[in-house]
Amino acid sequence: MPVIALPTGRSLDACLGIIEGAGMPSQKLRDAGRNLVVDDGGYRYLLGKPSDIPTLVSQGLAELAFIGSDVTEESDVDLAELVDTGMGRCFMAIAGPPAIAERFGGHASGLMGLRVASKYGRIARRTFESWGAHVKILRLNGSVELAPALGLADCIFDIVQTGSTLKANGLVVVKRTAEVSLRLVANPGALQLRWEALRDAVGAVRNFVIGG
Ligand code: PRP
Repeated sequence: MPVIALPTGRSLDACLGIIEGAGMPSQKLRDAGRNLVVDDGGYRYLLGKPSDIPTLVSQGLAELAFIGSDVTEESDVDLAELVDTGMGRCFMAIAGPPAIAERFGGHASGLMGLRVASKYGRIARRTFESWGAHVKILRLNGSVELAPALGLADCIFDIVQTGSTLKANGLVVVKRTAEVSLRLVANPGALQLRWEALRDAVGAVRNFVIGG
């Protein structure tokens, strides 16, 4: 049976919406509770932490996965992107206290030497390097908005969806750097070897996205 990995957390609802909209089985998935492996109507769904989804796919434990483009870009694994669902939209940004936004003033030189907290160390490094701005990246695993408040970092590099976490912590967007959405990805080997078994699911998601 096709094995599809899904990220737990904020993206799961959007994934369930896509799966339902595509006409794939979802009842047992809805009722999964704390189950992390759910067999539902001929599909097996694996529920993993977003940052672990690329590993589940690249190691062949899942053939397909829904995952944010932020996570695939941050991961260092080879995944085939099949469909941009256009859902789960958010954006990547540098954010900080208003004084940092003023110091930036649209010029990367304003960010030189800053301490930047992020759970997206690779993307952050690439982004700042592309501007020739030398910064110190501090890698955290979550709640990065805490870092400027505690004086651990000057600003953060993170995803922003509603903006409410930034607002609650007195931070503002300094620069929006990339758009993010949920993608359907595959293990490249599985695509070749198991296409017959996977194509209904891929086609159903693609049709739902195009039709929607
Ligand atoms: C993400 C992100 C921000 C927040 C942004 O964290 O890292 O903290 O969501 O969302 P908002 O703009 O709607 O407030 P997440 O909730 O995934 O948890 P984490 O901090 O533990 O990674």
